[in-house]
Amino acid sequence: MSGIITVVAPVNIAVIKYWGKRDEELIIPLNDSVSATLDTNVMCAKTSVCVSPDFTNNEIWLNGKKESFTSPRLQNCLREIKLRAVAERSVDDVFLSWKIHVCSENNFPTAAGLASSAAGYACLVTALAKLYKIKSDVSSIARLGSGSACRSVYGGFVHWHAGVKADGSDSVATQIVGSSHWPQMRALILVVGDDRKKVSSTKGMKISKETSELLQYRIEKCVPRRTEEICEAIKNKDFSKFAEITMKDSNQFHAICLDSYPPFAYMTATSLKIIDFVHKYNEICGEPRVAYTFDAGPNACLYLLEEEVSKVLGLIQYLFPTTISDSFIKGLDTKATPASEEVLQNLSLQPEAKDSVKYVIYTKVGDGPTEVTDGSSLLNDAGWPVNPVIE
Ligand code: PMV
Repeated sequence: MSGIITVVAPVNIAVIKYWGKRDEELIIPLNDSVSATLDTNVMCAKTSVCVSPDFTNNEIWLNGKKESFTSPRLQNCLREIKLRAVAERSVDDVFLSWKIHVCSENNFPTAAGLASSAAGYACLVTALAKLYKIKSDVSSIARLGSGSACRSVYGGFVHWHAGVKADGSDSVATQIVGSSHWPQMRALILVVGDDRKKVSSTKGMKISKETSELLQYRIEKCVPRRTEEICEAIKNKDFSKFAEITMKDSNQFHAICLDSYPPFAYMTATSLKIIDFVHKYNEICGEPRVAYTFDAGPNACLYLLEEEVSKVLGLIQYLFPTTISDSFIKGLDTKATPASEEVLQNLSLQPEAKDSVKYVIYTKVGDGPTEVTDGSSLLNDAGWPVNPVIE
């Protein structure tokens, strides 16, 4: 058997959104996008892989449960990794012929609608690249698993270039700046309760591409300018500019969902209340101090600098009361400052119903995927799951 490779990989949250595919099969986007990679100490996917002449099938376990290996996206990632290994002559043919075992888990609830597929595929592809000793950039292979996964291959702030080539070989992610460039940058993820069955990103993108005129306008006019400006704002640590572009881009993405036909919406009344709160807070401060962004679901990601965190958490606790006060704020250590009467009056917002925000994850910008060598592999010495779920 090969050695077991174990990797942890991060979630990323876009500030310039990817929405729409130029090529469905190869997952090539219609537009560039930009994201921040979030700390794996708070949220991460973890994957262990190994190959062996003793294995009779390729097998995969997700969160302990055996799943089918036949998913086309999974197959595409493994095929491309092996082709790279052949091109780089990094392992021999015998090693390439051995079957593989993959065991993967997330340390955050998949059902919370957080970017679990991005972390999951970035983790899988990085682990496979290490197993097959690949040296070149693998973001274009992670992209074949889930588009946004290509951005999770790097830490800090990341730019996914749409590319122009038909085969997608130039549709890759590059790092704008590393995780230590803007050390004050923080993220609060507000997990919003929502039981509705939502439109998948794949389906939503297809409807938007086929029907939304606003999408065409966005791709031609807005994204190129915004991408250039937000990259500059990140390099210059210009929070006001960063915040304004982030919020406008999130709003335009959700406007495109409504401009699609038939329309669909990911944000709920609670999401809209969060938007209202952020704008009122920024108005009181006299400049943008908090930026919101929403993906294909109702959860908010607020970007803000460390000095704002305790004040903003105090207001969140007031506006979104909870019944789980001891575990409402998860992640990095912090204390909420109770909101002052004066600020509450200026905000003039009433608290929502209890638990409309289920909990908050406090995190920061972090590094890309890393190999774990502390012996906490998800596969045992024979290459089988350490903690299988017995059904
Ligand atoms: O990679 P997917 O198929 O999960 O699509 C992600 C789409 C958004 O999260 C809405 C935007 C983005 O750029 O991450």
